[in-house]
Amino acid sequence: MPTRSKIALVGAGNIGGELAALCVQKQLGDVVLYDIAPKENFAKGKALDLEQNSVVHGWDARVTGTSNWADCAGADVVIITAGVPRKPGQSRDDLIAINLPIIRDVADNAKKHCPDAFFIVISNPLDAMVYELKRRIGAPREKVVGMAGVLDSARFQLFLARAAGVSVKDVRAMVLGGHGDDMVPLLSATTIDGVPVTQLLAKDVIDAIIERTRKGGGEIVGLMGTSAYYAPASSAIAMAEAYLRDQKRLLPAAAYLDGEYGYSDLYMGVPVIIGGKGVEKIVELNLSADEKAMLAKSAASVQAIVDVVKKG
Ligand code: APR
Repeated sequence: MPTRSKIALVGAGNIGGELAALCVQKQLGDVVLYDIAPKENFAKGKALDLEQNSVVHGWDARVTGTSNWADCAGADVVIITAGVPRKPGQSRDDLIAINLPIIRDVADNAKKHCPDAFFIVISNPLDAMVYELKRRIGAPREKVVGMAGVLDSARFQLFLARAAGVSVKDVRAMVLGGHGDDMVPLLSATTIDGVPVTQLLAKDVIDAIIERTRKGGGEIVGLMGTSAYYAPASSAIAMAEAYLRDQKRLLPAAAYLDGEYGYSDLYMGVPVIIGGKGVEKIVELNLSADEKAMLAKSAASVQAIVDVVKKG
């Protein structure tokens, strides 16, 4: 008998709720919305609201709220947003002291209850959190990935589409590197329906868009007082769907590097192919000298925060 996939969402806050809504809407599988004991009723309430919403649409997936890790047992996919988001003026790295013990707690429970899942980490500082989760669970690198590149690329694509006056559907772009202010928008891979963006937009316009993309998360934190949740959730769901439906999608994601791009024992945003086996391939592109230099700067920032994690 075929059974529905099971998706465990660890953290039932702003992103967790949106993730659950998208899982149901896309009929990806049954959802377990986990949060810590003081938030159990909150998670249960969100789950009930989402199930009632499903009735209106005719969606069959089940949503359960819980603070019991045993309910996550056997999950095919685990998406982690546990932790605190940024407040205005904070960098992602400022969250390390609070979010490091949280990711360790999540890793220890995940190792016990659902070690074979495909893990997608969203909690910040992303590259350090996903590194620690993999290290602590001891999972193969194919099964642990961080969500940043799809989101950063979406931000870049939006600003380019608006500046060029074209549909967002026609802009292709990729942002690599760490999920911080040193991220690397790859101009060589940025086109408007195949036409290099440099032919359609002036350099100063592109430079301003790159700067806005790098600070894209902070812009929203400044406006809302907390971090974004719709686009981060959609980005992670694109990755989960690629895994669950074996789509072999080429997406930028934080992947564990073991020599690729000249880096080892580090998570950083690179193009990967996600299919039914997880990260099936890390795609190595020929970068320009400029892009290599930007990637090196970004890698140094990630390494600094990973060093903090290793010491802690
Ligand atoms: N296990 C599970 N959940 C936890 C734990 C834990 N050990 N500790 C905290 N949480 C829960 C909180 O109770 C809260 O409900 O994580 C949830 C986080 O939700 P929000 O505060 O709404 O944060 P959100 O906007 O969803 O962002 C979560 O993603 O993008 C990143 O920077 C962001 O690190 C932040 C994370």
